[in-house]
Amino acid sequence: MAHDSSGATSSLRCAGTLTSRMPKKTIPASVRKKLEQAAVKVMKNAHAPYSNFHVGAAILLTNGKVFSGCNVENASYGMTNCAERTAIFSAVAQLGPKIEIQAVAVANDHGVACSPCGACRQVIYEFGPDATIFFQGASGPKQAHITELLPEGFRLQ
Ligand code: THU
Repeated sequence: MAHDSSGATSSLRCAGTLTSRMPKKTIPASVRKKLEQAAVKVMKNAHAPYSNFHVGAAILLTNGKVFSGCNVENASYGMTNCAERTAIFSAVAQLGPKIEIQAVAVANDHGVACSPCGACRQVIYEFGPDATIFFQGASGPKQAHITELLPEGFRLQ
C-alpha cells in the first residue's frame, strides 16, 4: 500500500505499484523523530548566503547509523550542494559505498514545503532504492517512498 500525506495507507493503486512502493521496513515514529531532530540540528550549519534558505538532512542506514548534512552554497551558484547529498556523501566517505539508506528526513528554516530536488532523488535512489523520505509537504509533514518521488530511477547495473 502507498503512504498518503498523513502517513496513512491507501489501497487505491494497482497491485504492482503497491508492492514496489511499500518499504520492506516501516520506520517507527520514535526513529522518525530522531532523524527529524538531527536534520534540524545540522540545518544550523548551512552555508546559504545566496538563497538564505537553510536546509538540513539526516539519513538512517540499514545498519542503524545516522549521518547528517546541510546545504553548502557557492558564489558560482551551480556548485551548490544540497543537504541530502551532503549527508549521503559524508556517509560514503566514512563507511564506503556499501551503505544502504533506509530513511531520509529533510528540514528547512522557513517551515515551507521542501522535498528533495530531482538530483538528490537520483542520489538517494542509488544508495536507497527502498528508502522512505520524510519532508515538509504543501499541507504539512509528509512521507513518501523514494520510487514515488522518483519513478523509473536510473541504474547502470
Ligand atoms: N536545497 C537543499 O539543500 N535541499 C532541498 O531539498 C531543496 C533545496 C537547498 C539548495 C540551495 O542551497 C537552497 O536550498 C535553495 O534552493
